[in-house]
Amino acid sequence: MIKLIVNGSKGRMGQAIIALAKQDADFQLAGEVDLADDIHAAAAKADVIIDFSLHDATLGVAQAAAKNKKPLVIGATGHTADAKKAVAAAVRGIPVVWAANYSTGVNTLFYITRKVAEILGPGFDQEIVEMHHRLKQDAPSGTAERLAQILAEVKQKQLAELARHGRHGIVGERTRDEIGIHAVRGGDVVGDHTVIFAAPGERVELAHKASSRETFARGSLRAAKWLIGKPAGLYDMQNVLGLK
Ligand SMILES: NC(=O)c1ccc[n+]([C@@H]2O[C@H](COP(=O)([O-])OP(=O)(O)OC[C@H]3O[C@@H](n4cnc5c(N)ncnc54)[C@H](O)[C@@H]3O)[C@@H](O)[C@H]2O)c1
Repeated sequence: MIKLIVNGSKGRMGQAIIALAKQDADFQLAGEVDLADDIHAAAAKADVIIDFSLHDATLGVAQAAAKNKKPLVIGATGHTADAKKAVAAAVRGIPVVWAANYSTGVNTLFYITRKVAEILGPGFDQEIVEMHHRLKQDAPSGTAERLAQILAEVKQKQLAELARHGRHGIVGERTRDEIGIHAVRGGDVVGDHTVIFAAPGERVELAHKASSRETFARGSLRAAKWLIGKPAGLYDMQNVLGLK
């Protein structure tokens, strides 16, 4: 049995993960940690830790996991570039899965977005549209950021140079290489992402729509199982699913 600690246990994702883990004979829930609890004490009891709390909490969880030499699955999104570097430095000695999105469908979208961008090339304008529920704190979503990152990698340029977050006013013509990223918020939408490739006379759209948090929860538990016994390193869901 794998002893599991869930950080952010009272949240929407934490609750979904706990409900699934309780039905899975491979897991024993060894601790539920939220704001008022001590992650260091809990980490000592774990075989693996899953964190779906807040971007601000990730460094503390990473330090607790590293100190106790426990594998870690990071689900929280919305980190700044500096915060990402600090977390990556903190977890150097342990195996970690860190993914913007734990759904199998979205990881397939990541994979085919790269392929479609390579096939269509620079003649197609690229835009990303995401929609999430009204309570989501960060924008754009970590998944939209990852999709934009993949498009920038295919263009062999830095995303910071290409990203165009929304448009307003007299912005002028679209530049050839910019990547438009648009965050829509409302209602109880779990997570929609569309990547648009548009050229004169035609358009390709790749879309994924999540209708339940269970898909992310299931993926994070799959990642947690996969991590047991892995060497120290930073992995993502593409590693877990064997897509790279
Ligand atoms: N990677 C993915 O596949 C994926 C999918 C869905 C959501 N997310 C991300 O997961 C995070 C959680 O999402 P949610 O919808 O469950 O949010 P939520 O607000 O419902 O839950 C977050 C929980 O974390 C707790 N928390 C905050 N700071 C904490 C700390 N320092 N220590 C311990 N617990 C703390 C809160 O009290 C709350 O219970 C967000 O960053 C969200 O963007 C990622």
